[in-house]
Amino acid sequence: MNVTVIGAGTMGNGIAHVFAQSGHAVTLVDLDQARLDAALATIDKNLGRQVAKEKLTAEQQEATLARVALKTDLAEGVAEADLVVEAATEDATLKAKIFEQIDDAAPPAAILASNTSSISITQIAGATRRPEQVIGMHFFNPVPVMKLVEVVRGLATSDATYETVRRLSEDLGKVPVEVNDAAGFVSNRVLMPMINEAVFCVHEGVATAEAVDTVMKLGMAHPMGPLTLADFIGLDVCLAILEVLHRELGEDKYRPCPLLRKMVAAGYLGRKSGKGFYDYA
Ligand code: 3HC
Repeated sequence: MNVTVIGAGTMGNGIAHVFAQSGHAVTLVDLDQARLDAALATIDKNLGRQVAKEKLTAEQQEATLARVALKTDLAEGVAEADLVVEAATEDATLKAKIFEQIDDAAPPAAILASNTSSISITQIAGATRRPEQVIGMHFFNPVPVMKLVEVVRGLATSDATYETVRRLSEDLGKVPVEVNDAAGFVSNRVLMPMINEAVFCVHEGVATAEAVDTVMKLGMAHPMGPLTLADFIGLDVCLAILEVLHRELGEDKYRPCPLLRKMVAAGYLGRKSGKGFYDYA
């Protein structure tokens, strides 16, 4: 299958990685050539980890990398696609614009998926003339490791589109879970209030970030504490998702903690900026 991934950030490079690894021809599209080059280097590095763990051979690493093409032009990048997976910034206006462009340039039969973590699939589908072929394909970071794909059905998503994406997710070695379109779907509707509450604990002086994380790691067997996880996801991403939950579901329980807002305003975005609840210098 020809798969085009839009956006060469953390999720985009992980999604390109898993499709290429399972034999698909992947085109990775980003406006910025430097981001594309960095994404390819990241894919190579992460494939290298799998080789080091003897889960992949060096030949498979090379063949996987050779299946990834890079493009800065979106229309060119989707022209031959059977499936497009959009993984751009979490911004509803931007996504609508991107989907309009994809809809104009991709073959009529192509399925258009979004990796959005909280924006309505029905709304995204509304920007296209093929809403029945639009679906959510929500992957988790680190994509090569995490088994879940939350497959989100918009109001108009057809059974045929859902079935194709479900099967494709299984072929990637993932476990697809069917979810209907609602703010945050299931994953972030459950995860983000927990992260937000952990931030409130620090904000209100209940405990330090280290203490909160230790409680959840050792008491609840979470692989990472919620604040380490928030740094890993990106504090700006967490805030954006909480704002969608708060606005769409209209309940105070989703109100982003003032400390989270302050940290994002200060540019403390977590791991990617070198500072969040922890220092990564
Ligand atoms: N690519 C390939 N392999 C990777 C990798 C990557 N990017 N990152 C880690 N790995 C591999 C390692 O090589 C290792 O392989 P092994 O099991 O064969 O030894 C394995 O994954 C575990 O990695 P490490 O030993 O380095 O480290 P940990 O044991 O601490 O695990 C972790 C790291 C998998 C990230 C683990 O801490 C974890 O599961 N954390 C929680 C992650 C999580 O919750 N993600 C979801 C975020 S929410 C999201 O993405 C949705 C969005 O909408 C917000």
